[in-house]
Amino acid sequence: MSGFFEGTALDYYDAGSVDLQSRWDAVADWWNARLEAGIDPYQKITSDRISPLVKGSYRDGTVFSGLNFASQEYLSLASHPEIVEAAIYAARHYGCHSAGSATLMGNTDLSVQLERRLAEYLGYKDCLVFPIGWAAGYGAVKTLVRKHDHVVIDALAHACLQEGAADATPNVHRFPHLSTDGVERRLRAIRATDTRCGILVVTETLFSMDSDTPDVRPLVRLCREYDATLLVDAAHDLGVYGAGGRGILEEQGILNEVDVIVGSFSKTFASTGGFVVTNSRGFRFGLRGGCGPSTFTNAMTPVQSAVVLAALDIVESPEGDERRARVLRNADMLRSGLAEAGFKVIGRASPIVPVLLGDAHIARLMTKFSIEMGGIVNLVEHPAVSANRCRWRLQVMADHRERQIVEFVEIARRSRERALEEASILSTANDRVAS
Ligand SMILES: Cc1ncc(COP(=O)(O)O)c(C=O)c1O
Repeated sequence: MSGFFEGTALDYYDAGSVDLQSRWDAVADWWNARLEAGIDPYQKITSDRISPLVKGSYRDGTVFSGLNFASQEYLSLASHPEIVEAAIYAARHYGCHSAGSATLMGNTDLSVQLERRLAEYLGYKDCLVFPIGWAAGYGAVKTLVRKHDHVVIDALAHACLQEGAADATPNVHRFPHLSTDGVERRLRAIRATDTRCGILVVTETLFSMDSDTPDVRPLVRLCREYDATLLVDAAHDLGVYGAGGRGILEEQGILNEVDVIVGSFSKTFASTGGFVVTNSRGFRFGLRGGCGPSTFTNAMTPVQSAVVLAALDIVESPEGDERRARVLRNADMLRSGLAEAGFKVIGRASPIVPVLLGDAHIARLMTKFSIEMGGIVNLVEHPAVSANRCRWRLQVMADHRERQIVEFVEIARRSRERALEEASILSTANDRVAS
């Protein structure tokens, strides 16, 4: 039994098997055993609108319902009447499909309008949209960097950026999370031996597992000093901070000084999809003609583009200000409620509230009990975060109510109590078996 409470799925991957698919069979057994023990909170399925209350099921059909702190819907726009209307209009007028790569004829009036609008919104010359956010981050890094170039990347940067870097060049230098000194040391070392290579410095404005933010201004200065290009992923903060929702870069007063911004629509703009903005004349052609997840994939659908355009109207308006104030107030309340209940909540005030739970055993049990009691959460385990720093990555919406937050804190407290109780019963039983 204890095997389900420890380790990670990859401990069960059989790299030695000649059959490439069956290498995953023991992984599947491990996940299914976890599901049976009630401690597999992944691959959950919703069966209603995404809102502060959610109904859904586990992958075996076991249903749950309750307070939703597990969806990325920061400004509560997914069911906003104006956005739903925009989606309906686009589906009626354009149909549902882009039916081609943006390199060929997959763009629509709406996606082109969205590109122009986003470029203008962020104060850049050009913007390209992608059907998923992951593709924008991966594609931008992979297209900018060649084998002889270097990438200097925050150790905790998102997988799309890390994978883009690893696929582009063997010269990837990870710097300690948020460390400006770490960036400078690496830039100095690279330039000491190579004055001609390209260097891409990569970071994020709001890290989604830790809810923290780098000071980007010194990175701008370092990139100029060492002839490097700065790429920043603003997936989690765009729409939520700054004047008109222009994000943390606007808040830090350096919006137009970063060379390339990538982002996603899926946290705040009620749609899948992502974008790259740039002031370069040529980069657009690289992204459209020489970037796998843009060139060889079908473009954003008209419905996606219409939804993001309508979301942007709201984000930029006084209603956007009011929604931003609400989501940040809710997040603050959740943070302080959990901290008062003795939880370790990390990072800055943002719609992401990471709660450290410690080891996998307790974290898995707490998640099971919380969902049973109606506190719907996402658990993040090793290897997505370091071992013994398992966490709930709670995500707050503008539409959460004060009483829902109070209720959730109580559920979290009770789930911790039950998990500690159950873990001690299990360990006593194991001791008995062992003796
Ligand atoms: C920082 C960051 N970049 C990119 C992505 C990818 O965006 P999407 O999920 O919209 O494809 C995510 C989301 O998971 C993210 O957190």
